Amino acid sequence: MALWGGRFAGDASAMFKQVNDSLPFDYVMAAEDITGSIAWSKGLVRAGVLNDQEQQDLEACLRALLEQVEAGSVDFSASGEEDIHSFVEAYLTDKLGDLGRKLHTGRSRNDQVATDFRLWCKRHLAGLKHDLINLMDALLKCASRHDGVIMPGYTHLQRAQPVLFTHWCLAYNEMLKRDITRIDDCVNRLNQSPLGCGALAGTTFAVDREQLAAELGFAGPCLNSLDAVSDRDFVLELLFCASTGMMHLSRMAEDLIFYNSGEAGFLQLSDAVTSGSSLMPQKKNPDALELMRGKCGRVFGHLQGLLVTMKGLPLAYNKDMQEDKEGAIDAVNQYHICLCIGSEVLDGLSVNQDATRKAAQQGYANATELADYLVGKGVPFRTAHDISGQAVVRALAKGVALEELSVDEFQSLHPQIQDDVYPWLELEAVVSKRNQPGGTSHAMVTQALYVEHEYLDKLKASVSS
Ligand code: ARG
Repeated sequence: MALWGGRFAGDASAMFKQVNDSLPFDYVMAAEDITGSIAWSKGLVRAGVLNDQEQQDLEACLRALLEQVEAGSVDFSASGEEDIHSFVEAYLTDKLGDLGRKLHTGRSRNDQVATDFRLWCKRHLAGLKHDLINLMDALLKCASRHDGVIMPGYTHLQRAQPVLFTHWCLAYNEMLKRDITRIDDCVNRLNQSPLGCGALAGTTFAVDREQLAAELGFAGPCLNSLDAVSDRDFVLELLFCASTGMMHLSRMAEDLIFYNSGEAGFLQLSDAVTSGSSLMPQKKNPDALELMRGKCGRVFGHLQGLLVTMKGLPLAYNKDMQEDKEGAIDAVNQYHICLCIGSEVLDGLSVNQDATRKAAQQGYANATELADYLVGKGVPFRTAHDISGQAVVRALAKGVALEELSVDEFQSLHPQIQDDVYPWLELEAVVSKRNQPGGTSHAMVTQALYVEHEYLDKLKASVSS
């Protein structure tokens, strides 16, 4: 039965129900709606609306429903109710009669939905943080497994300078660390309780909003009732967390897709995360990675969609805001799936270090070293850069590597280049020289890997405590 029946003589049309009902998707907040309702029932005791026995009866009934929800045995769609709030209320009224009809005293679905959805976002942000930690774990393990492996680093997708594969892993580790702190920030900001703000102006009942907030695990109550029921910036922030996180995953996926290509041949992906072609028997396609990249479209779309929905809405609640849920639910689900499959990809990945090393040796990735060598001899960097460029042209014309040019050839370009240039041009030396913090030298990366393992251990301990 509709919650607003008294004012209406006619029934809602079937099409109106279809556009208006949110139960088909907001049933996912059932647990939050029940927890919020239990807290509210206690507030109504404080306000003198319910006696202890009534509260206990309501709570027992709500807990019984929660058990069924958790067991997955509730058929929401069969009820025909408008939304999860009316569904829970209808259940209570069905079981408890008039007592069930008392629970909504002083509460509006406006403060109720804002409370439920904040709780839902908090729960899922915690889940995503957990997924991110697992992915970091897989990434650091993958980094450790490939200790010392050298590969080309790229800019503009041109071989630029050699880097350690571990250094590449640690780059994504930094992004995942920021993705986690972004989630923490989002949770900190959304951690206020709208319950007790009523429809828009506040409630007349002395429910003790501080106490309500504490019971629901919020840091405190929202401070303005109009704001509490009308803003959805917390959903936008969740969508931004998911979008930025997915953007990071898509870049990692793209790197790996390229490394896995026949042209690069840098790595093997496990059979568990690849698929074959129905036509071409030789193919092993990186589908998991392509989907990590491709699913960005819908997740970014959800962020944009809700921004547009919220733009220009007058205070306070408007039904437009019901559109906040489907996109967020899908974004959380897709991001979760991608984080999990990302861990599986990394677990099963192995780098072909002969191929990466060979590629790092080609493509004149040591041209910067030649310039730096000349700088060491007192040549201004701009001049040194120019001479090194000429050396590359010379080597290219002969079809050889830079270090294969003779001293005579080098000296025809600049008299200061001597025999001692060759050790500078060796791959290991090129890597080892990048020994300032943040650089790719073996020493720096070994230390960084150690520090990051410790960081991850602390992170794991902080979420399990
Ligand atoms: N299903 C609604 C939503 O998700 C609940 C709030 C309804 N409030 C109202 N005044 N009609 O936004």
